[in-house]
Amino acid sequence: MTLAARISGVGRYVPERVMTNEELEATVETSSEWIVERTGIRERRIAAPHETTSSMGTEAARRALASAGITGAEIDLVITGTCTPDGLFPATASAIQNAIGATHAGAFDVNAACVGFLSGLATGAQFIATGSAERVLVVGAETLSRIVDWTDRGTCVLFGDGAGAVVLERAVPGEPGSIDSLLLRSDGSQAGLLYSHGPCSPLVDGLQQEAKIIMDGRAVFRQAVTMMCDSATEVIARAGLTVDDIALAVPHQANMRIITAMSDRLGLPMDRVYVNVDRYGNTSSATIPIALAEAEAEGRLKPGDRVLFASFGGGLSWGAMVIEWAGVGSRRLVAASAARSAGA
Ligand code: UT7
Repeated sequence: MTLAARISGVGRYVPERVMTNEELEATVETSSEWIVERTGIRERRIAAPHETTSSMGTEAARRALASAGITGAEIDLVITGTCTPDGLFPATASAIQNAIGATHAGAFDVNAACVGFLSGLATGAQFIATGSAERVLVVGAETLSRIVDWTDRGTCVLFGDGAGAVVLERAVPGEPGSIDSLLLRSDGSQAGLLYSHGPCSPLVDGLQQEAKIIMDGRAVFRQAVTMMCDSATEVIARAGLTVDDIALAVPHQANMRIITAMSDRLGLPMDRVYVNVDRYGNTSSATIPIALAEAEAEGRLKPGDRVLFASFGGGLSWGAMVIEWAGVGSRRLVAASAARSAGA
């Protein structure tokens, strides 16, 4: 099942404030050596007090629109993958839709924890494939620093803030650019391994429970490797491809050891796996679009490349996707300039 949707723009935004491992050494019983050895993370970004998931998502969205060469008014739908929305409602996507001037667009959020961006991308691609939309903006944005338990060394060293975005638009037959296969899965029976309460969670002794990340890291780790590898293997096969056809994998950036285990098990060498977990830690829904925007900026993608996405997280949930890279720049602009030349 190939969906005729292509990524035509990418953008990312990370807050200025860098929090190093050394800073964490001063607040919890940990060491930079432990964090680097067990996770690969050296630093992460922390949102400024005035920043929110929508403000970071908006900045990433503006850059994605600029990369596609289009304006917000040309977007039909804004989908934001996030588990740290600005509020319970309205949707964070509505704030982004307003800020970018997407005056003809619908907007909604998708919460699938770290699989939020992939779930949004799968949804957006299907809006395009069914003909309901021509151009969809898919954002992955998180302000995890506001739900991290800064006294828990088992989690506080892992997470960071940031946002990434892509413009998805209708693919053109005969030109590179498609969603070749996708898979989304969930096992809600394992919700207790990684979760955060919210304002509507059951009251305990009449009291609201604080929103903070609670995780059994070791159990999640074990599952993560299996989930990433099994789903990646399945989407590659469903696309009629082999691992050798994958030019670049852009996996969820949670832990360097999970990424290298995936590379080993799939037989996909690390020089074809994009990594930036060292600089940002785990930004949940934002990891894949941030990494994709950086890979594009570094010239690691060329039209026709097959790119693998794979993610896992709270739910538990997991998923993977194979796309054919189209190169950035909206096809609408190509069509308009072809029409101009034909008229000249
Ligand atoms: O998007 C999905 C999000 N979740 C994940 O990706 C989490 C997946 N899990 C992991 O990445 C890893 O399990 C962690 C990085 C969370 C932990 O690494 P680990 O190698 O699985 O360590 P562990 O939990 O087995 O703990 C080993 C030891 C424990 O001490 P004892 O019991 O052996 O004395 C921990 O208390 O390491 C201790 N420890 C730490 N020590 C220093 C745990 N956190 C820290 C820390 N600094 N920050």
